[in-house]
Amino acid sequence: MTAPVSAIPGPRGLPVVGVAPRLLGDPLEFMVRIQRHYGDLVRLSLGRHTMYLAIHPDMIKRITQENWKNYIKRYPAMDEILGQGLVTSNGAHWLRQRRLMQPAFHHQRIARMASIMVEEAEQMLARWETYARTRQPVDIQHEMMLLTQKIIVRTMFGTSLNNDEAEAVGKAFNDTLNWAAGQQFRWWQPPRSWPTPGNLQYRRNLELLERTVYRLIEERRQHQGEHDDLLEMLVTARDADTGEQMSPKQIRDEVMTIFLAGHETTAGTLSWILHLLAHHGESERKLRAEYATVLGGRNPTPADLPQLPYNRMVIDETLRLYPPTWILSRVLVEADTLGDYELPAGAVVALSPYVTHRHPDFWPNAESFDPERFRPTAIEQRHKFAYIPFITGPRQCIGNNFALMEMQLILPMILQHFRVSAIPGYPVRPIPRATLRPGPMQWMEVRRVGEG
Ligand code: HEM
Repeated sequence: MTAPVSAIPGPRGLPVVGVAPRLLGDPLEFMVRIQRHYGDLVRLSLGRHTMYLAIHPDMIKRITQENWKNYIKRYPAMDEILGQGLVTSNGAHWLRQRRLMQPAFHHQRIARMASIMVEEAEQMLARWETYARTRQPVDIQHEMMLLTQKIIVRTMFGTSLNNDEAEAVGKAFNDTLNWAAGQQFRWWQPPRSWPTPGNLQYRRNLELLERTVYRLIEERRQHQGEHDDLLEMLVTARDADTGEQMSPKQIRDEVMTIFLAGHETTAGTLSWILHLLAHHGESERKLRAEYATVLGGRNPTPADLPQLPYNRMVIDETLRLYPPTWILSRVLVEADTLGDYELPAGAVVALSPYVTHRHPDFWPNAESFDPERFRPTAIEQRHKFAYIPFITGPRQCIGNNFALMEMQLILPMILQHFRVSAIPGYPVRPIPRATLRPGPMQWMEVRRVGEG
């Protein structure tokens, strides 16, 4: 017997706005608390809308795997930015694009991108020599954003952004996304056509991004056949039935999507790792010992990575504590049963890796940083759907292996050359914007290894 949707427990909100102010205020703390209080499926009234937060791994399995076709994406705030790209599209269109783009993420192809990742990291570390010498605090999040942005542009689109371009584009992306993410929980917003300062800035940012993306596409059309990367696949693809090429707008949507999805998430995770290690000396020592034994100071290659298990465990545990995609949602096409409840067609279900990664039944002492949770024996014993930084099922992240390799290469490069430490009085906590990033005082100190 299932209960109706009205029986799903949840906090009582205020008239008109529901719990929206609490979700906007401190969503992470709020969502973890309501899981403890109301259980595995919680009703959240946001005024005019109601959302159901599904937390239990069994529900994650149902939504993302068993009945995934019944749970579609609807991210209206992202429509203008990402259009019909892979993250935001659905149905047959999504499937065709996913099949087309999947080969760009084949593991052998990704392994060939390692040298670009290492080269870009070397250039960043060369800059850090100056920071270390002059004892200048480093904005770690910003450094990681620049690095991962340059890597995604070179590996996927076969071109380089200079530093000024990377700065401008990175900032425009960031502002646009955070603006869009902020719209999710608003109970009211001025229409896009109104010339509010926020709307005008958003327009300017979007225009800059589009100019950059269309330029990349145009350059590639003029040099078609000279590259072997994702952009080449997009520009040369032809529909199997009609023989038609992809429209410039569709290529623009995919390029924007990969550019967006492919750098900020990884940058945030790398920043978190450095912040966490700064407070967990034992883990840092273990990492350094592993690097010393396997690498002895040289740069890593993809072939070294299986010999660096602790390196991977630290990354996995960081993605558990601070999953960049801390919340996402789906809309039901037809009614479905989740746990003891029947949800109707049209219901909006939210999934929060941040909350599921803290479920007390699967993650004892969930707030503590403990890479040992990711020893293979521990992983085997855990519910597979209790750990979802990349989501699971057919719509899981297409770039998961790319991101994992990138982080596994960059981390030893940084730590073999530099000590990265917290600056006393600079507090860091998770800031839930478009992704979950460390802030507000993300600066850290870097010192050459072996120097005071
Ligand atoms: C630590 C790094 C990353 C994390 C935690 C992450 C996380 C995620 C998550 C949770 C989703 C599902 C979103 C949803 O269902 O709404 C997703 C989808 C996606 N990600 Fe990632 N991602 C990362 C890196 C990357 C990279 C490096 C790329 C590209 C090079 C990428 C490209 C994509 C794309 C295209 C999708 C949509 C896939 C589809 O629906 O078919 N991601 N990612």
